[in-house]
Amino acid sequence: MKNETIVLLDFGAQYNQLIARRVREANVYCELLPWNSDIEKIKALEPKGIILTGGPASVYAPDAPLPDKAVFSLGVPVLGICYGMQSMCHVLGGKIAKAEKREYGKKDIVLKPSPLFLGPETKTTCWMSHTDQVETAPAGFVSAARTETCPNAAVMDTERRFFGVQFHPEVEHTPFGGDMLRRFLYDICGCSGDWHVGGFVKECVASLREELKGHKVLCALSGGVDSSVAAVLTHKAIGKDLTCVFLDHGLLRRDEGDQVEAVFRKDFDMELVRVNCEERFLQKLAGVREPEEKRKIIGAEFINVFEEEAKRLGRCDILIQGTIYPDVIESGGPSAQVIKSHHNVGGLPEVMDFKAVVEPLRNLFKDEVRAVGLELGIPEFLVNRQPFPGPGLAVRVIGEITAEKLRILKDADAIFRAELEENGAAKAIDQYFAVLTDMRSVGVMGDGRTYDYLLALRAVTTTDFMTADWADIPHDLLRKISNRITNEVDHINRVVYDITQKPPATIEWE
Ligand code: XMP
Repeated sequence: MKNETIVLLDFGAQYNQLIARRVREANVYCELLPWNSDIEKIKALEPKGIILTGGPASVYAPDAPLPDKAVFSLGVPVLGICYGMQSMCHVLGGKIAKAEKREYGKKDIVLKPSPLFLGPETKTTCWMSHTDQVETAPAGFVSAARTETCPNAAVMDTERRFFGVQFHPEVEHTPFGGDMLRRFLYDICGCSGDWHVGGFVKECVASLREELKGHKVLCALSGGVDSSVAAVLTHKAIGKDLTCVFLDHGLLRRDEGDQVEAVFRKDFDMELVRVNCEERFLQKLAGVREPEEKRKIIGAEFINVFEEEAKRLGRCDILIQGTIYPDVIESGGPSAQVIKSHHNVGGLPEVMDFKAVVEPLRNLFKDEVRAVGLELGIPEFLVNRQPFPGPGLAVRVIGEITAEKLRILKDADAIFRAELEENGAAKAIDQYFAVLTDMRSVGVMGDGRTYDYLLALRAVTTTDFMTADWADIPHDLLRKISNRITNEVDHINRVVYDITQKPPATIEWE
């Protein structure tokens, strides 16, 4: 059964995935497509409504991305947000102009009675970020909200069911934004809210059972949430016809390999092959100091080992991958510069001889993957794990990697994490870990001189990992952590706390 679908056309604003998540949170399935998607492709999805997202352009710029007029002849409601509203009004014959004053941040707004806002005229606040605005709305439209400097803060043509809002309903600073989106989805587009995690699990398992019937299937398990959920879904569908390969490259956190193995082998009774190849990875990485080179070596070696295992197992013709929706969305905006090449197993199918690659999670956002994981009974510590880089501790041992440095880092990192978790401080932090620097400094222990490693602690708060702030850990707790590490972990005689935001720093040190 196909879910009711809303199509979002992406005009390139940074927070467009957030709009999509808000729609999904309202139990309506949606897809984010590039702004210039073929109209036939849009029609094929049989959308109940269209949302035009924000974007950085101005409609009068020479190459401005503008919606295809055919979008407005589909007979379905359209909601334009920020640039999406301006481009809709421009295409339908309205006039867009530079506002006298750029409106940015929290603004007072008056909402007029309308299908989007309901109720009597209401004064409230919203989040604005725009320079251009709709000066004259197209024929058939009336204003539905105003701010001090923006008379058309929202516009509507209720006959054709076209709506535009200049503010951002998707962000928390627009308190009525969630209700407004729900009204658009339910009252205006007529959605019934048929997108639920439970329903997804049932349908996904049934369709995997059908699709994979008669095949032997392989899954590369990393212990991360995406591959874990993909594996458990597939296991539910085909049981022992799925073999999971868990490659332990020795760059995982302390005890992590054993925990992952216990969950999948004992709790889920899966066919699991654990490949312990720490030495092999250490040999490949010996003498390598440069972070990007480390990433490349690990990525390539991961494929080598996996390929060997697949050959050894010899009978699998389908590969399961935990690709999720943000990995497949083609953005409407210009592609970003690569700061770090994030290693994952995305390269596998190209070099391997599988008949097909199946990606059961390719339509889900991360928070939905987590909800599916909990629904499937995967333990919380796996489902709600903070992100962990594919190259693992290799990018947290600065400079050359040795078995000893890895051991030191694992022990120190385990103390840091345990202290934050036991004290409840971890709840307010999105990612935290230790970094073993390549620097040594002089210390004193008992009556003797030491010359040992400097350990850095990193803990950040962030919503999207694109920007981040350092976390405010209580000083007493930092003191306790530092004391424990220097007392309990040999070869660390100094601990520092990283107080740098991203940007200019990145979250990881390499
Ligand atoms: P940065 O360091 O770029 O990190 O601020 C942003 C987020 O990405 C994670 N990260 C990686 N993840 N492979 C991954 O799968 C990598 O090579 C990698 N490098 C960084 C990082 O942990 C943070 O969550």
